[in-house]
Amino acid sequence: MERPIKVILVGAGNRAGNVYGSVALRAPDQMKVVGIVDPDPVRMRLMRECYQVPVENCFDDVSELVKREKFADAVINGTMDELHVQTAIPTLEKGYDLLLEKPFCINEDEMKQIVEVANRCNRKVFICHVLRYAPFYSAIKQHLLNEEIGQIISIEMCEHVNYHHMAVSYVRGKWRSEKLCFTPMLLAKSCHDVDLMMWLMRQKPTTIASFGGEFQFGLHNKPENAGTRCMKDCPLNKECPFSAEGNYLTNPTRWAQYVWKCLENEENVTVERKRESLSTDNPYGKCVWDFERDGNCDHQSVMVQFENGATGLFNMVGGSAKSERNIHIVGTKGEIKGTFEDQTYVVRKIDAFAPTGYEEVRYNLNETGDMTGAHGGHGGGDARLVLDFLGGLAGEETSYSATDINDSTISHQVVFKAMKAMRDGTVEKMDD
Ligand SMILES: NC(=O)c1ccc[n+]([C@@H]2O[C@H](COP(=O)([O-])OP(=O)(O)OC[C@H]3O[C@@H](n4cnc5c(N)ncnc54)[C@H](O)[C@@H]3O)[C@@H](O)[C@H]2O)c1
Repeated sequence: MERPIKVILVGAGNRAGNVYGSVALRAPDQMKVVGIVDPDPVRMRLMRECYQVPVENCFDDVSELVKREKFADAVINGTMDELHVQTAIPTLEKGYDLLLEKPFCINEDEMKQIVEVANRCNRKVFICHVLRYAPFYSAIKQHLLNEEIGQIISIEMCEHVNYHHMAVSYVRGKWRSEKLCFTPMLLAKSCHDVDLMMWLMRQKPTTIASFGGEFQFGLHNKPENAGTRCMKDCPLNKECPFSAEGNYLTNPTRWAQYVWKCLENEENVTVERKRESLSTDNPYGKCVWDFERDGNCDHQSVMVQFENGATGLFNMVGGSAKSERNIHIVGTKGEIKGTFEDQTYVVRKIDAFAPTGYEEVRYNLNETGDMTGAHGGHGGGDARLVLDFLGGLAGEETSYSATDINDSTISHQVVFKAMKAMRDGTVEKMDD
């Protein structure tokens, strides 16, 4: 394939439209957006103008797209979780390669279905596990590939989702209930972390246990005197951590892509207009405790036994003050420990003759500042993933971070088993 690689955005929302599509603006020699599928007229207009896409290449539905002769090299699918499989299969069958958002499916039946189609049609399918491409995790992976810490005995990881991220996405937002989005938080949010664990370990997972549940949200936790909307009738508005005024007006860029989406068709939106929106019909202005939770968790721990006897532990906690992902990998010859948000980690190598018992090197990745560096989206992972996908289509060798769909089935399956283990109080064996 020749560059720029021609892509069609299917579901031109925040991820496909704003994030991945923007590579075409920043690196026009690499990628060109030539088509759009999205039933939302506002998104369609904004994205069509942004990428200068001819109107005859714009469609409300994938079924319309696949009636046309193939006119691009690949599709970037950023529809919501429950639409991935049904919108991806027709494009694979039409012959398009695919960059598909995570989670790529919402259950094991869907997983088998799309994997079968991708393999039968012999299409390249990359899954957007963007964190594998973040300099922090890819540097850690490189130390493991160099066998610097020996065989991994244990890997401990945690993801602390801060209180305002928790509220905007998993309580007030699009992933608030499985009835609505079909994905529990472990799949919607932390399938990244489970994927990282599988990718770093490179051992077959055999057995999964999991505990967790809902701790602080849901109607039954609502304070007695709380109102229905923070800025309409709630006496706790100035002190509540989930105050819409504090989180979305005092801090206007905080989660703007979600909170102000309902106003994206309006021009020159003033603070007064935003205040009115949160006080009336904007879902992000509703009391955080009034949302039906439908069994969703706000914290969950997952334990994994691997075939070679090593173990993995992942802890997802929603509601922390600061978002933080920590990792600690202990091997037979040393260890690696770091914090993603700080972009720093340490490698310690066992040394019986050293006064401390080990040799230590500290790494700081904060220096790189371009769109693929540590300060780009997802710590630089978003753009690096797209560029690697484009390179793969152009016939180049893809990086060791590449997330082929067959590879991603392992982490998705671990998540499905963990959900079952937590809900049924069982210990689950992985399928062969
Ligand atoms: N990789 C990551 O780190 C990451 C981060 C956030 C979200 N996500 C995932 O990205 C996906 C999209 O999330 P988002 O926040 O961009 O959502 P979004 O709501 O902003 O975008 C989805 C778009 O799909 C469109 N759409 C709806 N029905 C459609 C259909 N039948 N055919 C085509 N388009 C249709 C909507 O109009 C909307 O524009 C989700 O699966 C989400 O879980 C991934």
